[in-house]
Amino acid sequence: MKIILIGMQGSGKGTYAKLLNEIYHLEHISIGDILRNEVNKKSKIGLQIDEILKKGELVDDKIILDLLENKLKNNFVLDGFPRTIKQARELEKITKIDKVFYITLKDETAIKRLTTRIQCEKCGAIYGNRKKPLNDNICDICGSKLIKRPDDNEESIKKRLEIFHKETKPLIDFYIKKKILIKIVGEKTIDKVFSKIEEYLNK
Ligand code: AP5
Ligand code: MG
Repeated sequence: MKIILIGMQGSGKGTYAKLLNEIYHLEHISIGDILRNEVNKKSKIGLQIDEILKKGELVDDKIILDLLENKLKNNFVLDGFPRTIKQARELEKITKIDKVFYITLKDETAIKRLTTRIQCEKCGAIYGNRKKPLNDNICDICGSKLIKRPDDNEESIKKRLEIFHKETKPLIDFYIKKKILIKIVGEKTIDKVFSKIEEYLNK
């Protein structure tokens, strides 16, 4: 099965994609993680990307498509792509999508979650107020340090939410018309939201 998760920043795309990977063995393709890996490598392209991520702006389509090349073959859960109608049209040329989950969230909830999120610098595991690590600032999974993402600051969050409303929201109608969109309320607990996703996944 090929699935896309669409949702505002902080709606839990990464959280639920990781669960879908663990339980249903769908490959988790997070374009944000792929971009952050490039930044950590300090490659020429990584340095360019770093500036854009910090500002909360969108990275150039050509860079994104190059990084995703050959990654969309097996069953997957796609987290963070597409984010614009243009990207969705590019994706259509590459593969057919079975289901799109749109996880809804209020802006104020997104801001609260993002300002309290911490993430493993090595394996990318996600923690927050509702999912605390067993030991402060240490990843339960790999024992590495937990850090705050550089784009989880007030200014970048504002920019990212603005881009979501302007560029990403039109995707909802795009996938409704294709009859593959499922809307999930993201304000509930992680367990409840994930159960809803599972319910529709098995339909
Ligand atoms: P990306 O890494 O995808 O970041 P994002 O879109 O800003 O989304 P987040 O990762 O912040 O949120 P999430 O929905 O994954 O939430 P999470 O599960 O972590 O992209 C980063 C950047 O890369 C972009 O800004 C852009 O520059 C670039 N980029 C990426 N894709 C691109 C593209 N296609 N084109 C161009 N540029 C692109 O959860 C958040 C927090 O909430 C956690 O603490 C979690 O524990 C908590 N939480 C989750 N669910 C619940 C719940 N139900 N109750 C309580 N807490 C919860
Ligand atoms: Mg994420």
